[in-house]
Amino acid sequence: MVRLSVNIDHVATLRQARQAAEPDPVAAAVLAELAGARGITCHIRGDRRHIQDQDLRRLQEVVTTHLNVEMAATAPMLRIAREYRPDLVTLVPEEPGEITTTGGIDAAKHFTRLKRHVQALKKSKINVSLFVDPHSSQIAAAAKLGVGMIELNTNAFAEARSERTQARAFDALVSAAQQAGDLGLLVAAGHGLSVRNVTPIADIPEVVELNIGHSIISRAVLIGLERAIVEILDAIGV
Ligand code: PXP
Repeated sequence: MVRLSVNIDHVATLRQARQAAEPDPVAAAVLAELAGARGITCHIRGDRRHIQDQDLRRLQEVVTTHLNVEMAATAPMLRIAREYRPDLVTLVPEEPGEITTTGGIDAAKHFTRLKRHVQALKKSKINVSLFVDPHSSQIAAAAKLGVGMIELNTNAFAEARSERTQARAFDALVSAAQQAGDLGLLVAAGHGLSVRNVTPIADIPEVVELNIGHSIISRAVLIGLERAIVEILDAIGV
C-alpha cells in the first residue's frame, strides 16, 4: 500500500517570512503523523530559505515514522546528511534563485560526480533516493548509481494543460515506474500532487511512496492540517 510522506517545508517558509518561532515545522510533523502520514519530508536548501539545520536536528529526534531529507549533492550537504542521519536522503538539483525544484536531477549527465556522492552516503550507511524525470535514460543511470530508490518527478503530469498532454505525462510515469521496478528500485513520486490529481499516481503499482507538500500545507491554512491530510489520504485510497 502506498505511503504518504508530508513535506513540511512551507510551514517553515511561513515562519521564516517573519524570522519568528512560529509556525513550527516540527509541530506540523507531529500533527501530520497523528493524522495518518507515514513519513515526513523536508528540503534543506543551500540558501536556508525554509528548513534550518536546527529543524533537522529536532525532526530527527521527534519523527517516529520515516524522515526523508531532500538535498543537493554537494560537500556541505554530505556533512549535513552525516550529522543528522535521516532515514533517507533524496538528492535533488538545486538552482540559485529557483522558486521550487524545477526538474529531476540529471543522473546521466552528472553520473561521475553523483556516483562519488552516492558512494559516500552509502558508506555512511545512509539510504539514498534520486529525484528524476520519468525518462528511461534517467532510470537506467539511477540504477547504475546504486541507489535503492528513485522519486519520479510528477511535475509535467501535474502542470499539464490538456488531457492529451496529461495522458502522455502519465504514460511516461507508468513506463518509468515499471522500468525502475524491473531494475529492483523502490519507486516514490511527487511534485505538484494534490487531491485533484493524486489518485491515478497512487494507483501505479510500483509507487510505494508519495511526497506531497504545497497542496497539503495550502489547504491546511484554510481547513486545518488534519483535514488536509485526511482528504489526501482519501484521494490516495488509504
Ligand atoms: N519531491 C521533491 C523532490 C520536491 O522537491 C518537492 C518540493 O519540495 C516535492 C516532492 C513536493 O512537491 P509539492 O510541494 O509540489 O507537493
